Amino acid sequence: MRVLSIESSCDETGVAVYDDQKGLLTNQLYSQIKMHAEYGGVVPELASRDHIRKAVPLVKEALSSSGLTPDDIDAVVYTAGPGLVGALMVGATVARTLAYAWDKPAVPVNHMEGHLLAPMLEENRPEYPFLALLVSGGHTMIVRVNDFASYEIMGESVDDAAGEAFDKTAKLLGIPYPGGALLSALAEKGTKDRFKFPRPMLNHQGYNFSFSGLKTAVSLAIKDFDGELDEQTKADLALAFEDAVVDILKAKCTRALRDTGLNQLVIAGGVSANKHLRSAMKSMMEQLHGKVFYPRTEFCTDNGAMIAYAGMQRFKKGVSASREICVFPRWPLSSIDEMYSSKSV
Ligand code: KG4
Ligand code: ZN
Repeated sequence: MRVLSIESSCDETGVAVYDDQKGLLTNQLYSQIKMHAEYGGVVPELASRDHIRKAVPLVKEALSSSGLTPDDIDAVVYTAGPGLVGALMVGATVARTLAYAWDKPAVPVNHMEGHLLAPMLEENRPEYPFLALLVSGGHTMIVRVNDFASYEIMGESVDDAAGEAFDKTAKLLGIPYPGGALLSALAEKGTKDRFKFPRPMLNHQGYNFSFSGLKTAVSLAIKDFDGELDEQTKADLALAFEDAVVDILKAKCTRALRDTGLNQLVIAGGVSANKHLRSAMKSMMEQLHGKVFYPRTEFCTDNGAMIAYAGMQRFKKGVSASREICVFPRWPLSSIDEMYSSKSV
């Protein structure tokens, strides 16, 4: 069986084809990052227009690069939420229309489930059950994954998501949007322990996170320099910020692993591309005699491949969308099944 996917929840248009026997056959991505960087953040209307421009050409490219025709596709799967409503509508409309024209089912997919299962695209993949740390631009969660479609949210951010904190802190340091990856590159040149930021909620019971105080701490440290921030100081601040985020994520995951008795940890979502986080989690899991799994870097941030994988699993479970085109800008992972079973998809 083969599915063709369309991802358009934010600022990346992704199209992929996944075969349940052969794996990923093609993965096409167009990133709008350069366009939005000029405005310091994603401009939703511009994002929708660019998805309109790119979605169909990427579908054509996906088919031609994999040597397939629409007859070889069993279902069209697409991101139905969460995300920007206009951007989602473009992907859903293209997907639903292609499915209608090709006389195939259409399958709505939850973007966060896509991120969560992205490590399943790799040869070295976890076995159910496992613990997952989902760290993206909009979400930070610890999820107990019992099986496919059986998720228990153990903790989440009470304010900013980890990626959001990276982006906002990057902005404070004068780094262009989206700052996460660039802040991390800058942190590599930082002097360890020149600055030390608080670790909010580190010792609180439970598994929730808070990152907005950290961003405020960076902003106060910057004020002390009265607009005279040299490059080395920026790098030192970036490193201190990154260290604090990694420490918080590590502490909460350690607690969740201990309390659940699970010994496999998946890290997924845009921030899982962070090298410092990846190596810190790897050594933590070695100490705990467990294993860590993360997707290759291009599958950490938004992409069509992860939607194709999750869509294939939903398709196999018999999910298919009605003719009406519906998207769900807010579709929490905690109520993923309610949406599927309500038939509103
Ligand atoms: O998962 P994603 O592509 O989009 C959402 O679903 O939100 O995540 C994007 C987020 C952005 O906040 C970006 O700055 C962050 O992931 N990010 C990083 C790195 N690469 C991307 N944050 C820290 N270090 C990185 N290397
Ligand atoms: Zn995402």
